[in-house]
Amino acid sequence: MNESLTQNVTEAFSQCDDARTKEIVTALVRHLHAFAREVNLTHDEWRHGIEFLTATGKKCDGIRQEFILLSDTLGLSIVLDDINQHHDEAATESSLLGPFYRDGVKHSAFAANIAQSDGEPVFFHGVVSDVSGKPLADALIEVWQTAPNGMYEGQDPEQPEGNLRGRFRTNAQGAYAFHSIKPTSYPIPTDGPVGQMLLATGRHPMRPAHIHFRIDAPGYESLTTALYSSDDPYVNSDAVFGVKPSLVIEYVPNDGGYEVARDFTLIAKERA
Ligand code: BEZ
Ligand code: FE
Repeated sequence: MNESLTQNVTEAFSQCDDARTKEIVTALVRHLHAFAREVNLTHDEWRHGIEFLTATGKKCDGIRQEFILLSDTLGLSIVLDDINQHHDEAATESSLLGPFYRDGVKHSAFAANIAQSDGEPVFFHGVVSDVSGKPLADALIEVWQTAPNGMYEGQDPEQPEGNLRGRFRTNAQGAYAFHSIKPTSYPIPTDGPVGQMLLATGRHPMRPAHIHFRIDAPGYESLTTALYSSDDPYVNSDAVFGVKPSLVIEYVPNDGGYEVARDFTLIAKERA
């Protein structure tokens, strides 16, 4: 084994002016070489790998981003999330944004119903505060979830515009509230190379039922997170590894439906 090969290649980047680019690219070379050596990669196997990456690129267009799906299913997206999120135990943990966030949803009133699909009713409510417990008035809360058929509005032409998407402001006490329906587990897109990779490696494509939240308040770090249903069969095997124990919630039966009381805690920008 000729270790000086790796050194020759990293040295080829020695003239790179940008220190961060140099750090990233030389680390990438070291890890790629170590990976190929660890598994004794053959020419045929690497050709197969290149074909897979080529197919992944060809699947991408203005809407579909197969490389992000690859990053998600290899757990890289959630590692980046972990590297870049705060590690303050008092603040709410983050989770993946996913590809189905949409800007420009119209504002809804406190306690509005965001569901235009039939389903099991849920009343979500809680308070947004900072880590000292001070409620944050006028924080922007955006939520989105799938319909019972496992599709987001935007994936499904049968769903009315804005279905199961909400945009709210917290009130003077920092409270938010809205009515919706219980989310459903759903498969990530499987009609491309990432779906083939999951199939070939004996993995399922399911995300456990969840509702996404994005919360913004001036002076605080933006929070992108999701709440995962404790009773979902996939809660311990999310295809994209987004579930964190602190984000798993119980749907408490209430008046023929469910209630979820869940507070969120944001971290001030200067502390992050
Ligand atoms: C989502 O939760 O919307 C999602 C996240 C990653 C990949 C696919 C979907
Ligand atoms: Fe989702």
